[in-house]
Amino acid sequence: MATRTEAQEKQSAGSAQANPFQAIVMMAGGVVLPRCLHAAADLGVADALGEEEQKTSDQLAASVGAHPDALFRVLRVLSSNGIFEMTGRKVRHSPASRLLRSDHPHSLRSLARMFGLPGCWNAFNEFGYSVRTGIPAGTKTLPKGLWRYFQENPEAGRIFNEAMVGKAQVQVPAVVGAYDFSRFGTVADIGGGRGHLLQAALEANRSVHGVLFDLPNVIQDAGAVASDRLKLQAGDFFKDALPAADVYTIMEVIHDWPDEESVAIFKAIRKAAKPGATLLVIEQLIPEDKAPHWAKMLDIHMLTLLGGKQRTEEEYGELLRRSGFALERVHPTRSDVSIIEAKAA
Ligand SMILES: C[S@@+](CC[C@H](N)C(=O)[O-])C[C@H]1O[C@@H](n2cnc3c(N)ncnc32)[C@H](O)[C@@H]1O
Repeated sequence: MATRTEAQEKQSAGSAQANPFQAIVMMAGGVVLPRCLHAAADLGVADALGEEEQKTSDQLAASVGAHPDALFRVLRVLSSNGIFEMTGRKVRHSPASRLLRSDHPHSLRSLARMFGLPGCWNAFNEFGYSVRTGIPAGTKTLPKGLWRYFQENPEAGRIFNEAMVGKAQVQVPAVVGAYDFSRFGTVADIGGGRGHLLQAALEANRSVHGVLFDLPNVIQDAGAVASDRLKLQAGDFFKDALPAADVYTIMEVIHDWPDEESVAIFKAIRKAAKPGATLLVIEQLIPEDKAPHWAKMLDIHMLTLLGGKQRTEEEYGELLRRSGFALERVHPTRSDVSIIEAKAA
């Protein structure tokens, strides 16, 4: 019997082989799909639908301030892809559209909005530049960089930080379940955003203390997680000293950076680390198979926006070696991220 991955490979390659014309047309013009999702998330259509059994697209358009026929057509595309359910002009929630509600405990509304933010989306207008040169198109569209864009646009920064909590909701329990933090005194989460990983690690390990390190505008947005066991430290990992700790977590931060900057971040951790400290690099590794996989798509976002990349285990081993760490083992988790465990060499 084919494994799930083999089946996926066959299915994706098979549909393009069975109908190559359709495959090219759908992909070439497929940009409408994310744009419809961004618009629905921005407008708050899922919130406007609420828990009601159903509403018409005209009622929803009136609630969110959209053009009735335009919103109907957007919802027709989304519902034909499983986001909302439609019968004629009547709209109901699907499991996926419920995740677009702001009040859903696992809301992905901000994640959907984040990919559509001008700072993120506009880089794709210059995508050809990235493909020709390997240089992120973001250097053209955001000359001061993405992190400065979030500092200068607080609402965009808030959406990004909230999006990170949303994207990590499956990763965080999986990481805390896959790794024993109880033997450590202090854990520092570098580039930890709103502190969602650190807070969960400390909740599961009552004797452990933590330090959340991130840029000042992000730390300002993370006040809710501070406690006598969880301290906040604002700074820039290229300029400022990092906190001393027994174990460092750094989740989906290194994928934002090219190799040289990644080595500089690891070296800054190495410099601050207590003797014998452990480093846990938490990332989505590029799978070896040919099936469609989110890590392969995320890799293109990194190429375009930031000049970072999704890496293989071997590539992380090499970066760590250049930074004075030795990769010890890789812990898979029940989510899309793996924990790459390293020790100061
Ligand atoms: C992709 S987010 C990951 C957030 C969180 N670790 C997670 O996985 O949910 C990258 C984080 O790196 C932080 N960051 C970027 N540049 C930084 C710098 N120079 N110093 C400290 N943190 C930085 C960002 O503010 C952001 O919170």
